[in-house]
Amino acid sequence: MSIVAFLIDFHNQRPGLTAIALADLPITSGAQHYPSTYALLASVVPVNAAETSVLDLACGDGFLLALLESRRQQNLHLSGIDMSTGELHRARARLQASTELIEGTAQHLPWPIESFDHVLCHMAFMLMENVEDVVREICRVLKPSGTFSAIVGASAPPSVVIQAFKTVFPKYQRKPGLEKVRFGDPRTRSSEGIRELLSPGFSNLVLKDVQITLRLTPEEVWDRFTNMYDLSLISVSDGDSVREEFLPLIHSACGAEGKLDYEENLRYFSAQRC
Ligand SMILES: C[S@@+](CC[C@H](N)C(=O)[O-])C[C@H]1O[C@@H](n2cnc3c(N)ncnc32)[C@H](O)[C@@H]1O
Repeated sequence: MSIVAFLIDFHNQRPGLTAIALADLPITSGAQHYPSTYALLASVVPVNAAETSVLDLACGDGFLLALLESRRQQNLHLSGIDMSTGELHRARARLQASTELIEGTAQHLPWPIESFDHVLCHMAFMLMENVEDVVREICRVLKPSGTFSAIVGASAPPSVVIQAFKTVFPKYQRKPGLEKVRFGDPRTRSSEGIRELLSPGFSNLVLKDVQITLRLTPEEVWDRFTNMYDLSLISVSDGDSVREEFLPLIHSACGAEGKLDYEENLRYFSAQRC
């Protein structure tokens, strides 16, 4: 199975998972705090600008578009594209009819040149194959001086949780057909790689680390893992065994209240089309 087929299958079966995992999680970026990564990305779009057009690339269930709609901003034109029918079905149900939604891929955007002032992409750029084609397409549909801004995954800091994850998960076989599935281009996961990818066509790149810090019970940590792709790659019957092996390894790190520190690192970037 290809990465594209895996992602379509996963998101058709479990639409809305990303928003469930991240919509209500406050984040810190340097000295700044935001209610969520979605709010950070939405803040790129100026309030009270004249005509403004925004594309949410890989919009999923439309949470980011809904956040922008909730501003009730005159002259804000919203569009979204995703390759999962299941996600788009949810997005259509929550969004206004005036918000355009298209089923398609980031590698072949169905809009003419210079259609958008802003392209936003929340937690999807690092999943995409042929990412140079994606960057070219973003460049093509952006107006001159338009911006491309994204939230992507980054390496988690060393912790008991990450150590336990690295100890347990590789022991389990992947489902037949999924052995070779790899997510996206590794360059999207580092600052240097993002700089390289965006250098043809973009300038004024801003990169910011984003931290999510939580205090969770081991079971709550496991619940976050069940929303991730990793667990869906291994066979369902092994899922329970992974849990049984994983939980004791992190129980020992819990404080008196039965919780431990849990951190996720993400990265924000924004760049301007030349
Ligand atoms: C982790 S989810 C994020 C969804 C949404 N942006 C959010 O944060 O709520 C990744 C989304 O990217 C979509 N996706 C991945 N690669 C894509 C591509 N090449 N073209 C269009 N959509 C893609 C998936 O279908 C899925 O909806």
